[in-house]
Amino acid sequence: MDRNLALNLARVTEAAALSAGKWLGKGDKNGADGAAVDAMRRMFDTVEIDGTVVIGEGEIDEAPMLYIGEKIGTKSGEEQVDIAVDPIDGTNSVAAGGTNSIAVLAVAPKGCLLNAPDIYMDKIACGPKAKGAIKLDDSPSENIKRVAEKLNKNIDEITVAILDRPRHEKIIKEIRKLGARIKKVSDGDIVTAIECCFEESGVDLIMGRGGAPEGVIAAAALKCLGGDFQGRLHPTDEKQEARCRDLHSDLNKVYEIDDLVKGNEVIFSVTGISKGEILDGVKYYENNIATTESLVLRLPSGTQRFIKSTHRLDLKPDYAK
Ligand code: FBP
Repeated sequence: MDRNLALNLARVTEAAALSAGKWLGKGDKNGADGAAVDAMRRMFDTVEIDGTVVIGEGEIDEAPMLYIGEKIGTKSGEEQVDIAVDPIDGTNSVAAGGTNSIAVLAVAPKGCLLNAPDIYMDKIACGPKAKGAIKLDDSPSENIKRVAEKLNKNIDEITVAILDRPRHEKIIKEIRKLGARIKKVSDGDIVTAIECCFEESGVDLIMGRGGAPEGVIAAAALKCLGGDFQGRLHPTDEKQEARCRDLHSDLNKVYEIDDLVKGNEVIFSVTGISKGEILDGVKYYENNIATTESLVLRLPSGTQRFIKSTHRLDLKPDYAK
Protein backbone atom coordinates (compact mmCIF):
# COMPACT_ATOMS: atom_id res chain seq x y z
CA MET A 1 0.00 0.00 0.00
CA ASP A 2 1.18 3.50 -0.84
CA ARG A 3 2.76 5.00 2.27
CA ASN A 4 1.29 8.41 1.48
CA LEU A 5 -2.10 6.85 2.15
CA ALA A 6 -1.35 7.19 5.86
CA LEU A 7 -1.76 10.98 5.85
CA ASN A 8 -4.99 10.80 3.87
CA LEU A 9 -6.37 8.28 6.35
CA ALA A 10 -5.47 10.64 9.19
CA ARG A 11 -7.67 13.20 7.45
CA VAL A 12 -10.52 10.68 7.55
CA THR A 13 -10.37 10.11 11.33
CA GLU A 14 -9.79 13.84 11.91
CA ALA A 15 -12.98 14.65 9.98
CA ALA A 16 -14.99 12.14 12.00
CA ALA A 17 -13.58 13.46 15.29
CA LEU A 18 -14.19 17.11 14.35
CA SER A 19 -17.82 16.31 13.56
CA ALA A 20 -18.41 14.12 16.61
CA GLY A 21 -16.67 16.63 18.89
CA LYS A 22 -19.55 19.06 18.50
CA TRP A 23 -21.92 16.48 20.06
CA LEU A 24 -19.94 16.07 23.31
CA GLY A 25 -22.27 15.87 26.29
CA LYS A 26 -25.45 16.50 24.27
CA GLY A 27 -27.00 13.23 25.39
CA ASP A 28 -27.62 12.17 21.80
CA LYS A 29 -25.58 9.12 20.81
CA ASN A 30 -27.37 8.67 17.49
CA GLY A 31 -26.77 12.30 16.54
CA ALA A 32 -23.07 11.99 17.41
CA ASP A 33 -22.68 8.71 15.57
CA GLY A 34 -24.52 10.00 12.50
CA ALA A 35 -22.27 13.06 12.32
CA ALA A 36 -19.09 10.99 12.62
CA VAL A 37 -20.23 8.40 10.07
CA ASP A 38 -21.24 11.07 7.59
CA ALA A 39 -17.93 12.96 7.90
CA MET A 40 -15.86 9.79 7.69
CA ARG A 41 -17.77 8.49 4.67
CA ARG A 42 -17.50 11.77 2.78
CA MET A 43 -13.78 12.18 3.50
CA PHE A 44 -13.21 8.62 2.25
CA ASP A 45 -14.63 9.78 -1.09
CA THR A 46 -11.48 11.87 -1.58
CA VAL A 47 -9.03 9.03 -0.89
CA GLU A 48 -7.36 7.18 -3.76
CA ILE A 49 -8.03 3.57 -2.82
CA ASP A 50 -10.10 0.67 -4.04
CA GLY A 51 -11.51 -0.37 -0.70
CA THR A 52 -14.27 -2.49 0.78
CA VAL A 53 -15.64 -2.06 4.30
CA VAL A 54 -15.23 -5.37 6.17
CA ILE A 55 -15.87 -3.97 9.64
CA GLY A 56 -18.29 -1.08 9.77
CA GLU A 57 -21.62 0.24 10.91
CA GLY A 58 -23.52 -3.01 10.29
CA GLU A 59 -25.16 -4.87 7.42
CA ILE A 60 -26.42 -3.03 4.33
CA ASP A 61 -30.03 -3.10 5.62
CA GLU A 62 -29.01 -1.70 9.03
CA ALA A 63 -26.70 1.14 8.03
CA PRO A 64 -27.00 3.69 5.21
CA MET A 65 -23.24 4.36 5.16
CA LEU A 66 -20.03 2.49 5.95
CA TYR A 67 -21.98 -0.79 5.88
CA ILE A 68 -20.18 -4.10 5.48
CA GLY A 69 -19.42 -4.69 1.81
CA GLU A 70 -19.64 -0.98 0.84
CA LYS A 71 -17.09 0.08 -1.76
CA ILE A 72 -14.93 3.00 -0.69
CA GLY A 73 -12.49 5.31 -2.45
CA THR A 74 -11.90 6.84 -5.85
CA LYS A 75 -9.58 4.30 -7.41
CA SER A 76 -10.96 1.13 -8.88
CA GLY A 77 -8.50 -1.20 -10.56
CA GLU A 78 -5.71 -0.44 -8.07
CA GLU A 79 -4.60 -2.73 -5.25
CA GLN A 80 -7.72 -3.78 -3.37
CA VAL A 81 -7.83 -3.08 0.35
CA ASP A 82 -10.09 -4.00 3.25
CA ILE A 83 -11.23 -1.28 5.63
CA ALA A 84 -12.27 -1.54 9.27
CA VAL A 85 -13.91 1.57 10.69
CA ASP A 86 -15.35 2.73 13.98
CA PRO A 87 -16.37 6.38 13.45
CA ILE A 88 -16.88 6.62 17.22
CA ASP A 89 -15.57 4.09 19.69
CA GLY A 90 -17.15 5.32 22.90
CA THR A 91 -20.48 6.61 21.57
CA ASN A 92 -22.07 6.62 25.04
CA SER A 93 -19.07 8.47 26.35
CA VAL A 94 -19.44 11.22 23.72
CA ALA A 95 -23.16 11.53 24.48
CA ALA A 96 -22.50 11.70 28.22
CA GLY A 97 -19.60 14.16 27.92
CA GLY A 98 -17.11 11.53 29.10
CA THR A 99 -13.49 10.72 28.25
CA ASN A 100 -11.69 8.18 26.08
CA SER A 101 -13.71 8.43 22.83
CA ILE A 102 -12.00 8.12 19.46
CA ALA A 103 -12.57 7.98 15.71
CA VAL A 104 -10.57 5.08 14.30
CA LEU A 105 -9.86 2.97 11.22
CA ALA A 106 -7.49 0.34 9.90
CA VAL A 107 -6.69 -0.52 6.28
CA ALA A 108 -4.93 -3.66 5.02
CA PRO A 109 -4.64 -5.55 1.72
CA LYS A 110 -7.77 -7.52 0.74
CA GLY A 111 -8.36 -10.56 2.91
CA CYS A 112 -6.01 -9.50 5.71
CA LEU A 113 -8.55 -8.30 8.31
CA LEU A 114 -10.76 -10.89 10.02
CA ASN A 115 -14.40 -10.31 9.07
CA ALA A 116 -15.54 -10.30 12.68
CA PRO A 117 -19.28 -10.52 13.36
CA ASP A 118 -20.82 -7.79 15.51
CA ILE A 119 -20.83 -9.87 18.69
CA TYR A 120 -18.71 -10.03 21.84
CA MET A 121 -15.13 -11.25 22.01
CA ASP A 122 -13.11 -12.31 25.05
CA LYS A 123 -9.84 -10.40 24.86
CA ILE A 124 -6.42 -10.09 26.40
CA ALA A 125 -3.72 -7.67 25.23
CA CYS A 126 -0.36 -6.31 26.32
CA GLY A 127 2.43 -4.07 25.06
CA PRO A 128 5.67 -5.02 23.26
CA LYS A 129 7.74 -5.68 26.40
CA ALA A 130 5.27 -8.31 27.63
CA LYS A 131 4.71 -9.90 24.21
CA GLY A 132 4.50 -13.69 24.50
CA ALA A 133 3.40 -13.56 28.15
CA ILE A 134 -0.38 -13.59 27.59
CA LYS A 135 -2.62 -16.61 27.00
CA LEU A 136 -6.38 -16.13 26.81
CA ASP A 137 -7.06 -19.60 28.18
CA ASP A 138 -4.96 -19.09 31.31
CA SER A 139 -6.38 -17.47 34.44
CA PRO A 140 -6.02 -13.72 35.06
CA SER A 141 -3.54 -14.54 37.87
CA GLU A 142 -1.30 -16.66 35.64
CA ASN A 143 -1.28 -13.95 32.96
CA ILE A 144 -0.57 -11.14 35.40
CA LYS A 145 2.29 -13.05 37.02
CA ARG A 146 3.93 -13.72 33.64
CA VAL A 147 3.49 -10.10 32.50
CA ALA A 148 4.94 -8.84 35.80
CA GLU A 149 7.97 -11.05 35.31
CA LYS A 150 8.51 -9.85 31.74
CA LEU A 151 8.14 -6.20 32.78
CA ASN A 152 10.33 -6.66 35.83
CA LYS A 153 7.59 -5.22 38.05
CA ASN A 154 6.02 -6.37 41.29
CA ILE A 155 2.46 -7.73 41.08
CA ASP A 156 1.11 -4.74 43.01
CA GLU A 157 2.62 -2.42 40.38
CA ILE A 158 0.82 -4.07 37.44
CA THR A 159 -2.28 -2.26 36.16
CA VAL A 160 -5.01 -4.19 34.36
CA ALA A 161 -7.54 -2.12 32.42
CA ILE A 162 -11.00 -3.62 32.14
CA LEU A 163 -14.40 -2.38 30.96
CA ASP A 164 -16.59 -1.50 33.95
CA ARG A 165 -19.33 -4.09 33.38
CA PRO A 166 -21.08 -6.53 35.76
CA ARG A 167 -19.88 -9.43 33.57
CA HIS A 168 -16.31 -8.72 34.71
CA GLU A 169 -16.95 -9.08 38.47
CA LYS A 170 -15.33 -12.53 38.62
CA ILE A 171 -12.14 -11.38 36.87
CA ILE A 172 -12.01 -8.24 39.03
CA LYS A 173 -12.36 -10.31 42.21
CA GLU A 174 -9.46 -12.53 41.15
CA ILE A 175 -7.23 -9.59 40.22
CA ARG A 176 -7.94 -7.95 43.59
CA LYS A 177 -7.14 -11.19 45.42
CA LEU A 178 -3.81 -11.38 43.59
CA GLY A 179 -3.05 -7.77 44.54
CA ALA A 180 -2.65 -6.16 41.09
CA ARG A 181 -4.09 -2.73 40.28
CA ILE A 182 -7.28 -2.24 38.26
CA LYS A 183 -8.26 0.61 35.98
CA LYS A 184 -11.99 0.47 35.27
CA VAL A 185 -12.92 1.93 31.91
CA SER A 186 -16.47 3.12 31.25
CA ASP A 187 -16.32 2.77 27.47
CA GLY A 188 -13.86 2.26 24.62
CA ASP A 189 -11.59 -0.77 24.72
CA ILE A 190 -9.69 -0.01 21.48
CA VAL A 191 -7.82 2.95 22.91
CA THR A 192 -7.32 1.11 26.21
CA ALA A 193 -5.61 -1.76 24.36
CA ILE A 194 -3.37 0.79 22.62
CA GLU A 195 -2.45 2.26 26.02
CA CYS A 196 -0.67 -1.03 26.89
CA CYS A 197 1.96 -0.06 24.29
CA PHE A 198 2.73 3.30 25.90
CA GLU A 199 4.40 3.05 29.31
CA GLU A 200 3.36 6.57 30.29
CA SER A 201 -0.32 5.47 30.16
CA GLY A 202 0.33 3.30 33.22
CA VAL A 203 -1.69 0.40 31.72
CA ASP A 204 0.13 -2.95 31.43
CA LEU A 205 -2.57 -5.21 30.06
CA ILE A 206 -6.26 -5.40 29.26
CA MET A 207 -8.64 -8.27 29.93
CA GLY A 208 -12.32 -8.95 29.54
CA ARG A 209 -15.15 -9.06 27.04
CA GLY A 210 -15.88 -6.32 24.52
CA GLY A 211 -16.95 -5.99 20.90
CA ALA A 212 -15.36 -8.35 18.35
CA PRO A 213 -15.09 -5.67 15.61
CA GLU A 214 -13.28 -3.46 18.15
CA GLY A 215 -11.00 -6.44 18.84
CA VAL A 216 -9.86 -6.61 15.21
CA ILE A 217 -9.25 -2.86 15.07
CA ALA A 218 -7.29 -2.95 18.35
CA ALA A 219 -5.26 -5.90 17.03
CA ALA A 220 -4.33 -3.85 13.93
CA ALA A 221 -2.94 -1.09 16.15
CA LEU A 222 -1.14 -3.48 18.48
CA LYS A 223 0.44 -5.32 15.55
CA CYS A 224 1.88 -2.01 14.30
CA LEU A 225 3.08 -1.16 17.84
CA GLY A 226 4.67 -4.58 18.48
CA GLY A 227 2.18 -5.53 21.19
CA ASP A 228 0.21 -8.74 21.60
CA PHE A 229 -3.51 -9.58 21.43
CA GLN A 230 -5.64 -12.72 21.64
CA GLY A 231 -9.40 -13.05 21.31
CA ARG A 232 -12.20 -15.62 21.15
CA LEU A 233 -15.65 -14.92 19.73
CA HIS A 234 -18.50 -15.06 22.24
CA PRO A 235 -21.95 -15.34 20.64
CA THR A 236 -24.83 -14.94 23.10
CA ASP A 237 -27.74 -16.41 21.10
CA GLU A 238 -28.57 -18.62 18.12
CA LYS A 239 -28.82 -15.68 15.73
CA GLN A 240 -25.25 -14.67 16.59
CA GLU A 241 -24.09 -18.26 16.21
CA ALA A 242 -25.70 -18.37 12.75
CA ARG A 243 -23.95 -15.12 11.83
CA CYS A 244 -20.64 -16.68 12.90
CA ARG A 245 -21.33 -19.71 10.72
CA ASP A 246 -22.09 -17.40 7.74
CA LEU A 247 -18.70 -15.77 8.19
CA HIS A 248 -16.97 -19.15 8.74
CA SER A 249 -15.83 -17.98 12.18
CA ASP A 250 -14.38 -20.63 14.46
CA LEU A 251 -16.10 -20.30 17.84
CA ASN A 252 -13.56 -22.40 19.74
CA LYS A 253 -10.48 -20.79 18.29
CA VAL A 254 -8.24 -18.42 20.18
CA TYR A 255 -7.47 -15.90 17.46
CA GLU A 256 -3.88 -14.72 17.71
CA ILE A 257 -2.91 -11.23 16.57
CA ASP A 258 -1.71 -12.63 13.20
CA ASP A 259 -5.05 -14.40 12.66
CA LEU A 260 -6.97 -11.19 13.27
CA VAL A 261 -4.66 -9.10 11.11
CA LYS A 262 -2.73 -11.11 8.53
CA GLY A 263 0.37 -10.09 6.59
CA ASN A 264 2.84 -7.27 6.93
CA GLU A 265 0.90 -4.29 5.66
CA VAL A 266 -1.47 -2.30 7.82
CA ILE A 267 -2.17 1.39 8.17
CA PHE A 268 -3.98 2.52 11.30
CA SER A 269 -5.29 5.97 12.19
CA VAL A 270 -6.99 7.20 15.36
CA THR A 271 -8.06 10.71 16.36
CA GLY A 272 -9.21 11.63 19.86
CA ILE A 273 -12.76 12.94 20.23
CA SER A 274 -12.70 13.38 24.01
CA LYS A 275 -9.61 13.31 26.20
CA GLY A 276 -7.79 10.03 26.82
CA GLU A 277 -4.41 8.95 28.24
CA ILE A 278 -2.61 9.08 24.88
CA LEU A 279 -4.58 11.53 22.77
CA ASP A 280 -6.30 14.76 23.68
CA GLY A 281 -9.84 15.35 22.48
CA VAL A 282 -11.03 17.94 19.99
CA LYS A 283 -10.69 21.49 21.30
CA TYR A 284 -12.37 24.56 19.88
CA TYR A 285 -10.90 28.07 19.91
CA GLU A 286 -12.00 31.52 18.82
CA ASN A 287 -12.43 32.37 15.14
CA ASN A 288 -13.44 28.88 13.98
CA ILE A 289 -10.21 27.19 15.04
CA ALA A 290 -10.20 23.60 16.30
CA THR A 291 -7.33 21.29 17.24
CA THR A 292 -7.08 17.50 17.04
CA GLU A 293 -4.55 14.89 18.10
CA SER A 294 -4.08 11.72 16.06
CA LEU A 295 -1.83 8.69 16.03
CA VAL A 296 -1.04 7.15 12.67
CA LEU A 297 0.78 3.83 12.40
CA ARG A 298 2.29 1.92 9.47
CA LEU A 299 3.29 -1.67 10.00
CA PRO A 300 5.98 -1.94 7.26
CA SER A 301 8.06 0.93 8.69
CA GLY A 302 6.90 0.71 12.31
CA THR A 303 6.59 4.51 12.32
CA GLN A 304 4.37 6.01 15.02
CA ARG A 305 3.25 9.49 14.03
CA PHE A 306 1.56 11.70 16.57
CA ILE A 307 -0.13 14.45 14.58
CA LYS A 308 -1.34 17.61 16.27
CA SER A 309 -3.45 19.54 13.79
CA THR A 310 -4.88 23.02 13.88
CA HIS A 311 -7.96 23.31 11.69
CA ARG A 312 -9.45 26.46 10.17
CA LEU A 313 -13.03 25.25 10.14
CA ASP A 314 -14.18 28.25 8.10
CA LEU A 315 -11.87 27.16 5.25
CA LYS A 316 -12.73 23.47 5.30
CA PRO A 317 -15.25 21.92 2.95
CA ASP A 318 -18.25 20.44 4.80
CA TYR A 319 -17.00 16.87 4.58
CA ALA A 320 -13.85 17.78 6.51
CA LYS A 321 -15.44 19.20 9.65
P1 FBP B 1 -19.54 1.78 20.77
O1 FBP B 1 -19.05 3.17 20.90
O2 FBP B 1 -19.49 1.30 19.37
O3 FBP B 1 -20.85 1.63 21.44
O4 FBP B 1 -18.49 0.83 21.57
C1 FBP B 1 -18.04 1.17 22.85
C2 FBP B 1 -17.52 -0.05 23.57
O5 FBP B 1 -17.14 0.33 24.89
C3 FBP B 1 -16.36 -0.76 22.89
O6 FBP B 1 -15.12 -0.13 23.01
C4 FBP B 1 -16.42 -2.10 23.55
O7 FBP B 1 -15.73 -3.09 22.81
C5 FBP B 1 -17.90 -2.35 23.64
O8 FBP B 1 -18.52 -1.05 23.64
C6 FBP B 1 -18.34 -3.10 24.85
O9 FBP B 1 -19.68 -3.42 24.73
P2 FBP B 1 -20.75 -3.19 25.91
O10 FBP B 1 -20.94 -1.70 26.08
O11 FBP B 1 -21.98 -3.89 25.44
O12 FBP B 1 -20.17 -3.78 27.14
